[in-house]
Amino acid sequence: MRSVDELIADGVAGRRVLVRADLNVPLDKARLREGAAAITDDGRIRASVPTIQALREAGARVVVAAHLGRPAGEPDPQYSLAPVAARLGELLGTDVPLAADVAGPDATGRAAELADGGVLLLENVRFEAAETSKDDAVRGELADRLAGLADLYVDDAFGAVHRKHASVYDIAQRLPHAAGRLVARELEVLTRLTESPERPYVVVLGGSKVSDKLAVIEALLPKVDTLLVGGGMCFTFLAAQGHGVGKSLLEADQVDTCRRLLAEAGNRIVLPLDVVCAPEFSADAETTVVPVEGIPDGQMGLDVGPRTVELFGSALGDARTVFWNGPMGVFELAPFQAGTRGIAQAVAAVDGLSVVGGGDSAAAVRQLGLDEAAYGHISTGGGASLEYLEGRQLPGLAALAD
Ligand code: 3PG
Repeated sequence: MRSVDELIADGVAGRRVLVRADLNVPLDKARLREGAAAITDDGRIRASVPTIQALREAGARVVVAAHLGRPAGEPDPQYSLAPVAARLGELLGTDVPLAADVAGPDATGRAAELADGGVLLLENVRFEAAETSKDDAVRGELADRLAGLADLYVDDAFGAVHRKHASVYDIAQRLPHAAGRLVARELEVLTRLTESPERPYVVVLGGSKVSDKLAVIEALLPKVDTLLVGGGMCFTFLAAQGHGVGKSLLEADQVDTCRRLLAEAGNRIVLPLDVVCAPEFSADAETTVVPVEGIPDGQMGLDVGPRTVELFGSALGDARTVFWNGPMGVFELAPFQAGTRGIAQAVAAVDGLSVVGGGDSAAAVRQLGLDEAAYGHISTGGGASLEYLEGRQLPGLAALAD
């Protein structure tokens, strides 16, 4: 896999480089409607800056392609990349105009006029239904138009490398290509997790849906020393152990699978001892901490309790390698933050390699005001890092390999 730095060393001055970035940031919809600054976590935009800046400094004309959310394959103002263009411009210290289309007349005209070191952001690539089409020919037609905007292609969208999309996969077959600095860094760290991690190797999984995590649990079980399970997904495991879970999240169709995994894992899967319950999902609900054996019928578990934080914390205290994906509770609401905060602090204190696996857990680290520098690596890819750890072939990386 060629790196962007090798591309730069060969000379990119005056050449147009299409950089696929993952600028899929969370937006505050109410602030967006008022026209105010709406990005609630700009981590992914900041992570994209080094590659774009290196290309600019080498005199390249940079065309950035990215997606935002999951629009229905047609232009939709609430998914416009306009707020992202503004923030990217601030971070790069240059004006970043936004094309009115993805690879249509406006993008083509603006890309042709770019000056050396200039940057253009294309409108949300998912405004074209072809971007995510399952039909190779349909994606190929969009990839042809995108390729027409540039001479070279750099994929720096680590968070999207698990998608077989036109701007991630097909375009690499049409232009000389390389991996960006962010993709290279993410791969370096994930390789350390998969190839002989220093032991004990402890994985912490949370988040709401157990069905999203079953494949990674199956893949990780033979490799880890301990798997700590919290978040909404723990209730399906607790149900598999025979506990009543009240109104907590439960995926009834996954109980048997969780039971099998618990049996296979022996004592390597560790579940919460206690949970913070409330009658409803609300910031001013009355909360109680109960042991997992006693979750009342009318209550839902919305965070792990203090004994669990202590138990998980002691497993993390001994670890030399840690991967954490998924919050321990509904950390967006103050009464249910303590579990995620406690685990985030314990992961930060690990004496060894600590990796936060993207998405909500990365947002939690920043929103809870924790020091990002205390972690070995905070991945920008939630789904992508999980699929990598599952050992799956990721289309975006496969496309860069040849
Ligand atoms: C993410 O948010 O994980 C990436 O940007 C990919 O987005 P997607 O899940 O909508 O493809």
